[in-house]
Amino acid sequence: MKITVAGAGYVGLVTCACLAELGHYVTCIDIQKEKIEMLQNGRSPIYEPGLEPLLQKHLQNGTLQFTTDSHQAYSNPEIIYIAVGTPEKEDGTVDLKYIHVITHTIAHYIKNDVLICTKSTVPVGTNDLIKEIIYSRIPSNIKAEVVATPEFLREGSAVFDFFHGDRIVIGTDNPEAASIMEQIYLPLKIPIITTDIRSAEMIKYASNAFLATKISFINEIANICEKVGANIEEVAYGIGQDKRIGPNFLKAGIGFGGSCFPKDTKALVQLAGDVEHSFELLESVIKVNNHQQSLPILKAKQKIGSLHNKKVALLGLSFKPDTDDVRESASIKIAKELIQEGAIVRAYDPIAIPNAKKVLGDTIEYAYDIRFALHEAELAIIATDWEHIKHVPLDIFHTFMEDPIIIDGRNCYPLREIQKYPVTYMSIGRANVHKSG
Ligand code: UDX
Repeated sequence: MKITVAGAGYVGLVTCACLAELGHYVTCIDIQKEKIEMLQNGRSPIYEPGLEPLLQKHLQNGTLQFTTDSHQAYSNPEIIYIAVGTPEKEDGTVDLKYIHVITHTIAHYIKNDVLICTKSTVPVGTNDLIKEIIYSRIPSNIKAEVVATPEFLREGSAVFDFFHGDRIVIGTDNPEAASIMEQIYLPLKIPIITTDIRSAEMIKYASNAFLATKISFINEIANICEKVGANIEEVAYGIGQDKRIGPNFLKAGIGFGGSCFPKDTKALVQLAGDVEHSFELLESVIKVNNHQQSLPILKAKQKIGSLHNKKVALLGLSFKPDTDDVRESASIKIAKELIQEGAIVRAYDPIAIPNAKKVLGDTIEYAYDIRFALHEAELAIIATDWEHIKHVPLDIFHTFMEDPIIIDGRNCYPLREIQKYPVTYMSIGRANVHKSG
């Protein structure tokens, strides 16, 4: 099929590369000229495992193209995916300005019957709004249908998730549109759930809210474990064996970040508020997460007092491993708090330093090697559980730091291993290890 994907962000790029891999002819459009030029040259503007080779493959065989030209992109595709950003406004509501612009642009340029599929995460009711705009602007001889197709791609494994997701959700009340969408996704052999538009929109928010709730729940249990002498990893394993609970998303740490959970949880609280429902459970999830992100600073101050002029190695900048995304990263928040406290920060990340620099500038120093970050530091804070960080030889802490104090916000090291080294080690929901000898 001839498909256009509007928006070359995480969702748009993964969608266009994977649809080309499924054998479709795909055009990806974005208004950012530089980004499109990079993509035309086979380079991905984001770090996402497996994405760049797929983009290059389909650029070369001619099934994928990139453009900034609306006429070329919208005049005759059979399907248009909307994958533009829906950022958060200051009051926590969703900013739909890009959705509005793209919808008007599509309405202006389409010349043939088309299926418009919304991948962007949008509040319940937005697809009805898109429909209204499209219907009120296109000539009566053109048939257009709007379908909600929320995405469940995790950054860092988005290409894998596209081909191996748990389900595909299609929201439409038009059987013909549902059938076309099912044909697109049939080769993936992933269960397809077809439902009405508003339920599809809600499935996305409810999924992310539930996962965020699991994380804040386990983090609260971890905080209690610390006080009663239990070990969160044993506890999470024990409860996760109950099939009704499941073992995933029970990893305690310094909370959730990224472009989805923080934004989507706030948006759902707002959405509930709009219909006069106070979503107190989700409000608490957000509150717990904010507290969790400041735990490393609280623990550091409890241990060493003032952080003024203290040399701190911050390990990990991205919001999670395998991505260069620093949006709502706990690590960025920690870096800012450290600066405020007057600490001298040197941060390591294998991939995310360029993005972190855009936010933190030269308020901190950057290290492309863990050893350099640790060199002469008085405190090390682990903020992201990168494999590079999890698998460092543990003797590097006392080799490069004088009297190592480690605050591990992601429980990277087994306690029985770290106990073998002359370090003070504090993690989340587990006993502290006090330096021996
Ligand atoms: C999420 C959803 O998983 C995905 O389905 C959706 O479409 C987009 O948002 P993503 O933001 O890429 O994906 O990351 P995810 O792997 O879900 O992790 C989010 C955050 O939660 C990260 O900061 C991660 O470190 C944290 N997390 C995750 C935990 O703290 N504990 C866990 O057990 C799992």
